[in-house]
Amino acid sequence: MDWDKVKQDIGVFSAHLAPKSGLIGLGSGSTSIEFIKALAPMYALGTYGIQCLAASLESELLAKTKGLPLMDHRHWTDEIDVTFDGADAVDDEGTAIKGAGGALLREKILAHSSKRFVLMIDERKWKKPWQECLLPVAVVPFGLMATIREIQQLGMRPVLRKNGAAPYLTNDGLFIIDIPLTLAVHSLADLDSQLKEIPGVVETGIFFHFASEIVIGYGNGKVEHKMVVV
Ligand code: A5P
Repeated sequence: MDWDKVKQDIGVFSAHLAPKSGLIGLGSGSTSIEFIKALAPMYALGTYGIQCLAASLESELLAKTKGLPLMDHRHWTDEIDVTFDGADAVDDEGTAIKGAGGALLREKILAHSSKRFVLMIDERKWKKPWQECLLPVAVVPFGLMATIREIQQLGMRPVLRKNGAAPYLTNDGLFIIDIPLTLAVHSLADLDSQLKEIPGVVETGIFFHFASEIVIGYGNGKVEHKMVVV
């Protein structure tokens, strides 16, 4: 199966869901990249009055290179009209696990301020059991080992994400800890609260009921647009 082609189809389909005016949030990861690539030529036609805000330096650079108009995040105050982002797993209530690319904090800041939050996934991630996922958690470098110990005390087996021999560093200078979700996790909401009680934890990759819409790309070439109703 050519999943890269499926991602391209998702990107093109989703770009057609974007409004012609307003503030658009750009997520990060390979599917978001396909969205940015598809939106740019539509914007270049000259009939759009949009501004974009990116969730990672990689997405920002690509958007800039492709000619999309970017807002400086230091001047950002208003609600975002719609954000398009990828995910690692999504359920039919719009809850997602995100952060395999490490940008979960900025992604959550954008999602939290978005009127519409559209998650773009291929069918392998649709209703993927949480127990098959790694939960990324952004943590402050200071006190790393103590933070890891506290996560272990919750019964988890945290693993520090590496970039070669060094810890992986996010755009905000944070480390990422990946936690395999096991059958012992009965409630994502409870786990989210427990993790956030640890002072060194900045944010988790649990996006609880965030998605308002889901775009799903299938291996047979079909792309589906679902509204989340809860
Ligand atoms: C980035 O930190 C992530 O949240 C991505 O949005 C997510 O991992 C999906 O990435 P892909 O589109 O590359 O699968």
